[in-house]
Amino acid sequence: MKLIIYSVREAEKPYINAWAKKTGHEVEMVDKPLNAKTVKLAQGYDGVSIQQTAKLGDAKVYEELAAMGIKQLSTRTVGVDMINLDDCKANDIVVTNVPVYSPRAIAEMGVTQAMYLLRRIADFRERMAHGDFRWSDDLISNEIYNLTVGVIGLGNIGGATAQIYKALGARVLAYDPFYNVEYEPYVEYTDFETVVKSADILTLHTPLLPSTENMIAAPQFKMMKNNAYLINMARGGLVNTSDLIAALENHEIAGAGLDTLADETTFFSKQVSPDKIPADYKKLAAMPNVLITPHIAFLTQTSIRNMVEISLNDVVTVVEGKHSRNEIRM
Ligand code: COI
Repeated sequence: MKLIIYSVREAEKPYINAWAKKTGHEVEMVDKPLNAKTVKLAQGYDGVSIQQTAKLGDAKVYEELAAMGIKQLSTRTVGVDMINLDDCKANDIVVTNVPVYSPRAIAEMGVTQAMYLLRRIADFRERMAHGDFRWSDDLISNEIYNLTVGVIGLGNIGGATAQIYKALGARVLAYDPFYNVEYEPYVEYTDFETVVKSADILTLHTPLLPSTENMIAAPQFKMMKNNAYLINMARGGLVNTSDLIAALENHEIAGAGLDTLADETTFFSKQVSPDKIPADYKKLAAMPNVLITPHIAFLTQTSIRNMVEISLNDVVTVVEGKHSRNEIRM
């Protein structure tokens, strides 16, 4: 079988080559994402793997794939918000994701960011850079076991996050429309509003859907505790960015740890000139109580290996006409 794999980074190549050698399939690696300009590259291939946050494009991209005989799209990500599932359905394209490449990778990054903010490390660094090494009373912080953590979205990543906070002694409240008995030992399930109101650390792990877009906006910031930190390791679109900036400026919340931003696709994962960096990012990045990372919570060796192997195995499974457990219901 001949596969084409888009958005390939150097770190993935050894895993792709090892997989090709083991399975005997031929893999063409392309460093660009799949979109209207690059879709033609899939001509002559049996299956496609992608990994991007930018949308694939309008209906034509999907129609072109179908016209070339492509029957599936396998994304080496958890999130599928860059894929138009209606267009896939209309063109009989089966979509698979990799829901469990390493939930711990993302969970650990969220906890790391929360601790960095909570312990006011950026403020101490800033003061030290100016010769101020004092044990400042205004930077006294709290310990996790005294705090309430609110988890929104209790899937694999939210569940792993809840387990870490529980192990640190926190009280963990969670909201998810789907109840999962597996997480009962770690969380108290409750409603969305109670989680938002009660959390000292509010951590988001839900997919970006029409129903979750802007789920944290002005009304939620007003409900949140003034000492609360918002942690978003999921998708930028879950949070209304201008409302977040206003909430930070008005001290409605204590700070934010963000691995993702609503308008990230033009600059995250790229080398760009300063004029390409959005104004909202610049505003947020200038705040000492905001920590931004460029969508790298996933970036561990375990993740990279699993993303490649699981995605490529799924390409073969679906192209061979079998079902994968990672198929997205459409
Ligand atoms: C995902 O897996 O959904 C991610 O956000 C990481 C990916 C963009 C590399």
